[in-house]
Amino acid sequence: MKKIGRIIGTAADTIKLLNIALEHEWAVSFEYLLHAYSMPKGRFFYEDPVMKQKTDARAQTIQIGIDEMYHALQLGVIITQMGGVPSFKTDEVIRYPKIIDNLKRDKATEDLVTNLYQTARFKKGAYPKVLNMILNISYDEVRHSRQFDFMIETLEKQGQAGEFCFQANPEVDRREDAALLHEIMRLENELMHRYLKYVILFSGHQDLSQRLFKNSVNHMRHWDKNAGLLVKMGSVIRIENAEKASSGEEKSLRPMPVSYPGRSRLSALKSLVPAEQNLIAKVEQLVAMVPDGEIKDELKLHLALKREHLFTQEWLLQNARMIKGLD
Ligand SMILES: [Fe+2]
Ligand SMILES: [Fe+2]
Ligand SMILES: [Fe+2]
Repeated sequence: MKKIGRIIGTAADTIKLLNIALEHEWAVSFEYLLHAYSMPKGRFFYEDPVMKQKTDARAQTIQIGIDEMYHALQLGVIITQMGGVPSFKTDEVIRYPKIIDNLKRDKATEDLVTNLYQTARFKKGAYPKVLNMILNISYDEVRHSRQFDFMIETLEKQGQAGEFCFQANPEVDRREDAALLHEIMRLENELMHRYLKYVILFSGHQDLSQRLFKNSVNHMRHWDKNAGLLVKMGSVIRIENAEKASSGEEKSLRPMPVSYPGRSRLSALKSLVPAEQNLIAKVEQLVAMVPDGEIKDELKLHLALKREHLFTQEWLLQNARMIKGLD
């Protein structure tokens, strides 16, 4: 991770720091979800040091990933308000074959970013709200680090340190339905992040940004559910553009897009309609392909909500076109 080696006193330096943090938060929110979706539900419990309750490590890892998404959102909004351009580049993501190795990486990531936030030095009195925000975020990271630490320790104590992540069955992955579900996962992830980007860009217009945020969250939910469906089929979430070492470690420098279409309100809204239509077409195709049962029922629920998104997006676009002076 890059760092700013000087005392921060200008807007340009502040934006630079916030963008380093944004790129990081953007990548780790994805990486934690990837790690969580690669492990079984309700199997690895740890005693949470703050909640003082036995807690599912997978569920908490997802929750931490969502916290990181909120961090990205906060950072992006401030960068935009300060007149900067938010960066959506990502750091590399890694998935190790063993669950504990992913958790160890996640813990190291938390410590690294805590350090970035807590060592940033501002000129006396400069940007007090930004400083306050990064301190607040840094203590979320401290909490996350301790959570991962307890998960690791518990796995070790319980003799679960050798447990492996789900492995994709190559025969399942060769099937048309599994291939289509992988493609739908990719599109859900892309759209979830694309909506988030627009939430950031249009944060000055709360009506639009709240609506887009709702859609982003829905795509995140579907992505989450689909990760479970893939496991049911006998596969597991795939990392885009990943290289697999002989040790089984997968690494990708481009796990998701680094840019998204649309700079203005109209061009952003225009791009969402065909994106929603494309996703709907793929889900319809998959619904027709899978036999009656749990997977089909789940996909039909997704489809209904996606049709609602399309309705919303078509009207957001039409309404924006009708009003003059809307920038
Ligand atoms: Fe974070
Ligand atoms: Fe964190
Ligand atoms: Fe949608």
